[in-house]
Amino acid sequence: MNIAYHAESGIFKLDTEKTSYIIALADKERFIGHAYYGKKISDTDVTYLLRTGENPFVPSKNNRDRSSFFDTFPMEFPGCNTGDYRESAIEVIDAQGHNAVELIYKEHRIMRGKPGLPGLPATFGGEEECMTLEIDAEDKCLGMEATLRYSIFADSDIVARSVSVKNCSEKSFFLTRIMSASVDMDQEDYKLLTLHGSWARERHMDYREIGYGKQSVGSTKGESSHQEHPFMALVSKKATQESGNVYGFHFVYSGNFLAQVEKNQFDSLRIQIGIHPKNFCYEVKPGECFEAPEAILVYSSEGLGGMTRTLHDLYRNHLIRSPYKDKKRPILINNWEATYFQFDTEKLLSIAREAKKAGIEMLVMDDGWFGYRNDDNTSLGDWTVNEKKLQGGLKYLVDEVNKIGLKFGIWFEPEMISPDSELYRAHPDWAIAIDGRTPCRSRNQFVLDLTRREVLEYVYNAVEKILHSANIEYVKWDMNRQLTDLGSVYLGKENQGELCHRYVLAVYELQERLTKEFPNLLLENCSGGGARFDPGMLYYSPQIWCSDDTDAIERLLIQEGTALIYPLSTMGAHVSDCPNHTVGRSTPFSTRGNVALAGTFGYELDITKIPEEDRSRIPEQVAMYHKYNDLIRNGDYYRIASYRQNHLYDCYEVVSKDKKEALITYVQVLNRPNYHSRIIKPAGLNPQMRYRNEETGELLFGDTLMNAGITIQNMWGDFQSKLIHLTEV
Ligand code: GLA
Repeated sequence: MNIAYHAESGIFKLDTEKTSYIIALADKERFIGHAYYGKKISDTDVTYLLRTGENPFVPSKNNRDRSSFFDTFPMEFPGCNTGDYRESAIEVIDAQGHNAVELIYKEHRIMRGKPGLPGLPATFGGEEECMTLEIDAEDKCLGMEATLRYSIFADSDIVARSVSVKNCSEKSFFLTRIMSASVDMDQEDYKLLTLHGSWARERHMDYREIGYGKQSVGSTKGESSHQEHPFMALVSKKATQESGNVYGFHFVYSGNFLAQVEKNQFDSLRIQIGIHPKNFCYEVKPGECFEAPEAILVYSSEGLGGMTRTLHDLYRNHLIRSPYKDKKRPILINNWEATYFQFDTEKLLSIAREAKKAGIEMLVMDDGWFGYRNDDNTSLGDWTVNEKKLQGGLKYLVDEVNKIGLKFGIWFEPEMISPDSELYRAHPDWAIAIDGRTPCRSRNQFVLDLTRREVLEYVYNAVEKILHSANIEYVKWDMNRQLTDLGSVYLGKENQGELCHRYVLAVYELQERLTKEFPNLLLENCSGGGARFDPGMLYYSPQIWCSDDTDAIERLLIQEGTALIYPLSTMGAHVSDCPNHTVGRSTPFSTRGNVALAGTFGYELDITKIPEEDRSRIPEQVAMYHKYNDLIRNGDYYRIASYRQNHLYDCYEVVSKDKKEALITYVQVLNRPNYHSRIIKPAGLNPQMRYRNEETGELLFGDTLMNAGITIQNMWGDFQSKLIHLTEV
């Protein structure tokens, strides 16, 4: 890892182990240009890549064609309305109502370590682990100073970028667009890879051609969303799992986002990722600074798998802070699909007793324990225990569960308010709404205006009080609707455009306080399944509920897309009952267990009611979890085959860092009649190590396994699966 400034060429060279990122100051004007990002290179002077020696030349040599220059130059952080007609990284409305920004290099600093981002989640690392470059750029006319920040890591091939914008003038300006990263490069043969979805089918991989003009994914829902994901990758058409160029862009943020690629007249690409400019208009007062969230850039010359493993390690080592990140999580049983809202103390205790017998370690009480909530129409905001259901109160229940030998966890949806609640009757103006307009209901609830300090304090105190009232060791923090009717009584009329970002900052503040006050609490974020599965939330919680869809086959696609960029240790995955409540499909209990094993593992069913045959299998699955979880949590993930592509079977593998152990999960989704065994080829093994296949006892070298493969016999029936455990001999 190194960051160096070469004054003679005006080059900043950021080198990680395998990549180089090069910024160049162009000519007299000191425009900040983007020269190169990709595989590590040796030369320091690569200013020729800016093409300033070509027509239309820099303005000091050809001022008559200044606009042509701007419209072609690879700008590191493009401004607006001064000649570059491509998308800008920053837009502003100044005190005169104008909208033009041109940022010119002023000075820079190179330092060891990585400064945190106030109020925002961000990757972190100490002085030995990271280096940071800060380039200050200024627009003298606006009195604006922008600090472009780049951090690199000794153990990771990524560049973490962020930007802060300072108002050095005497009047406010309003930011209307601020991207966290913008990268200009030539289109070679890249396809665009994004993750799309919906409720119950989040993060499916989607490829498309890159055409002229702009293509984007984004969210304006106030959260990262079920539908699109704050991630985008350019993938070489020739790339495989193990080779070829891949550029990934990932946003460490949990609100509105835009990820966009623009292909221009010269076949250059401009890739940007940042806060979605829709509904964004943020006042920066004189002397104040606006901090844009962090964007993670990853380049892999080792295909998609290289990108995946880089991001997994980065997030495990430099983003997730929870003390649980390196620990096996307790196997939980959640009562949502078991009872929905119909439960009481005795029902929960009966589940706990049966769960204990099977080796399960924690009971999680889901929605419906507070106010008078017996369905999803009431009581959000009234965080008082419903003693009609929980006879004897919460502490009694928790104590009894603890006596049975299980830990206890609880569900909250702290950001919400039901119109039918004591809280709403007392404070109707605490909901986000526009005065005079009937606010849109979604799941019959409104969103609290967390930008108001008194609302935020109320929410925090409500959660804190419950957590202090009993021995609660886990919280599932849910968010079941998106933002609409963007109005805040608290924010002035000029500042309504700050609501969505301030809302996200408030959620971060709440979770920061919670995790500080309860450092040993296991926090799992959730949003109607996986609508807020993003790197921002991982900073606060080591795991996130992946999807409300627990069907093993649907989960193959959801978990493939999720594991593309997130470590398996973060993916909330449970075994549920059949027919599956979302899709009505019946799959073998063992397959449900094998698929959930790739995540945090738990159960979401009424253990007192499921068939005895299934219940009797739980102890085996519990043992399997204990046997493999260290490997799954810490190992390297390899995608071997995808049901998305072949429509028949799915296969992935986790290999321990020392390569002495590997676990392959194989799911035969559809049986194929009259078919011989299938060969699958594990990856990531040590070619010279000899491995024992636990099931067959076969001994084979890593190179044989990886090149010749393993045969898997056809299994009787659809949705069958097996685990193949390889250990060094
Ligand atoms: C969301 C969650 C579910 C469950 C319900 C409760 O949909 O994703 O797991 O907690 O809310 O209302």
